[in-house]
Amino acid sequence: MTDPALRKPIKKAVFPVAGLGTRFLPATKAIPKEMLPIIDRPLIQYAVDEAREAGIEQLIFVTGRGKTAIVEHFDTAYELEATMSERDKSLDVLEPTRIQPGNLVTVRQQVPLGLGHAIWCARAIVGDEPFAIFLPDELMIGAPGCMKQMVEAYNQVGGNLISVLEVPEEEVSSYGVIAPGRRDGALTEVLGLVEKPKREDAPSNLIISGRYILQPEVMRVLENQGIGAGGEVQLTDAMSQMIGQQPFHAVTFAGKRYDCGNKTGFVEATLAVALERPDMRDEVRAIALRLLGV
Ligand code: G1P
Repeated sequence: MTDPALRKPIKKAVFPVAGLGTRFLPATKAIPKEMLPIIDRPLIQYAVDEAREAGIEQLIFVTGRGKTAIVEHFDTAYELEATMSERDKSLDVLEPTRIQPGNLVTVRQQVPLGLGHAIWCARAIVGDEPFAIFLPDELMIGAPGCMKQMVEAYNQVGGNLISVLEVPEEEVSSYGVIAPGRRDGALTEVLGLVEKPKREDAPSNLIISGRYILQPEVMRVLENQGIGAGGEVQLTDAMSQMIGQQPFHAVTFAGKRYDCGNKTGFVEATLAVALERPDMRDEVRAIALRLLGV
């Protein structure tokens, strides 16, 4: 049996959103990359919806300069709402942007020292509780959503969990990679973790896909975590030190994942989401076929 202290409910989530988004310049010169929309919802909204579906209450954004639009997005827009109400327009469309007062917190990452450092910046707000992490670039579409699937697994095994998926071998060096142990359905024991290994050194082709449930002890490890791959403080390195100390599992997500951190992934996500939406799929399908000359 897992220690009950390692099974406390997950009520907080950290969203590292301080990145500069240079791959999408000039689009991201004046707006955060997390505000780029897939159809009519910004990327960050998909991650927040996934978090709330999983029962997460408090959202902790680790932000930086030029990121205020994200906080505005999750605030009340008084003039907009008053004008829409006067015109008898439904406000339902704004419902996903409403966060309970007190449940949105921001902290700043003043220097770009990497993902591990970004998470560590949230330590005082996370406190002594397990917490989730969402990398909003990774768009996870599923029913139930990825985090909900992970919380269900967490309720069984406790400890630390990461979502993983298989990628072609030539892609492993762009990600964190796991050394897998025993597998039981969607759950795989994690025996080791390595950030951005060379293809020949990768322990598998199972990569970390941007969703985590971690125990608060990771903050203490991050405190002393040295510089890793790419000259940055890597979350993966801190997590690898927790293996053996606490249960550590990977969950293979049953659903679709789109890497919106690059342009073609973003286009793929836009098309895929459009083709799933009952309000637009037929028209978009006809357009896509016409453009392809099919
Ligand atoms: C980060 C993590 C990596 C993970 C990836 C998922 O890398 O460090 O372990 O596999 O996100 O997208 P980054 O994309 O910030 O280089």
